[in-house]
Amino acid sequence: MESETSDVMNRSDDDDLPSLQADSGIGIDDSSVLNGCIFLFGRQYRDWGPAKENCEQYFCPNDEQELERLDIQHHAFLVLMDNKLHFAPVSTTSPINVLDVCTGTGIWAIDVADECPRWDVKGIDWAPMQPAWVPPNIKFEIDDLRRLWCYNNIFDYIHTRATIYMGCWKDFKLDVIHQAFNGLQPGGWFECQEIGGLVECDDGTLPSDAPLTSWARALNIAGSKMGRPRDVSGRISEWYKEVGFVDVQQHALKMPIGNWSQDTRMKEAGSYWKVSMERALEGLSLRLFNEAFGWELADITVCRLFVVLVEIGMLIPSSYVRHYSIASDKISGTHLFTPTPKSL
Ligand SMILES: C[S@@+](CC[C@H](N)C(=O)[O-])C[C@H]1O[C@@H](n2cnc3c(N)ncnc32)[C@H](O)[C@@H]1O
Repeated sequence: MESETSDVMNRSDDDDLPSLQADSGIGIDDSSVLNGCIFLFGRQYRDWGPAKENCEQYFCPNDEQELERLDIQHHAFLVLMDNKLHFAPVSTTSPINVLDVCTGTGIWAIDVADECPRWDVKGIDWAPMQPAWVPPNIKFEIDDLRRLWCYNNIFDYIHTRATIYMGCWKDFKLDVIHQAFNGLQPGGWFECQEIGGLVECDDGTLPSDAPLTSWARALNIAGSKMGRPRDVSGRISEWYKEVGFVDVQQHALKMPIGNWSQDTRMKEAGSYWKVSMERALEGLSLRLFNEAFGWELADITVCRLFVVLVEIGMLIPSSYVRHYSIASDKISGTHLFTPTPKSL
């Protein structure tokens, strides 16, 4: 606990979560979240505006192409998890408050709202890319979740999915786990469905210097360089405990890349993931590589992404990314995390 406290206390002012107004849920005190969009490399991105210095970056696009990909990715998760939207043992029939962190197109939130009509679901993302026609028990809000959440003991279930490998956070423990702990009611559950940052293979058919593995490593280096570590999902359960969750349950699954598996379900999940990955190549790479390494568009697409795409297409038997599913309930712990005076 001591080390956690000093860890937080050592953060510089720039690193701290800005304290915000309490009247808008999480709260927004300037217009940077809603500044709009910019177009780079033929893709549409969120405009960071002056927030750049504050490490508010998110390097992935939020255009139609990305929206479509997120829906494909959703199906990959769904199939991998045997059509379950969550593993946490939350009651599906009780009227509970649910928060979906970084909801994206809202596809997960819409599905759970449909499946559990008594749940009251809130989906938050800083990009307004959710549909208007949704079940009555769901509400979307536009907000920047790296800022201080003003929810205390509100939610019965908080969920994140596919945020870390996309480089959403500077510090997942502080930005999310700690805030989720605060946001949960006693007895409430926090569940993360997150992907590892490496492309792996158990039978040696994917060499460590293959374009696909090199690409994933380059993304990790670039993400860390820009203060957005993306290969940290393996540490989530340890961070849960540091924050104060006690009984932390982790399911470690493998998301195949392509339909190489003999198992029908894995085969289907892998087929979806392969398509999602092919479509994610540009979005994950262009802005991040350009900012981190100064690489130009042609260099990135022609020299690097093209060979990765070819390799994904070749179907490497047994290549996969790790899928981490971590859940714990607040009742099993007391909050060990001491936020900085500034963030309070
Ligand atoms: C890969 S998507 C995941 C979407 C969704 N969780 C899913 O599984 O379909 C990541 C999302 O995080 C959002 N995002 C990134 N940083 C954010 C922040 N600081 N506050 C709110 N949303 C953020 C992006 O706009 C994007 O929609």
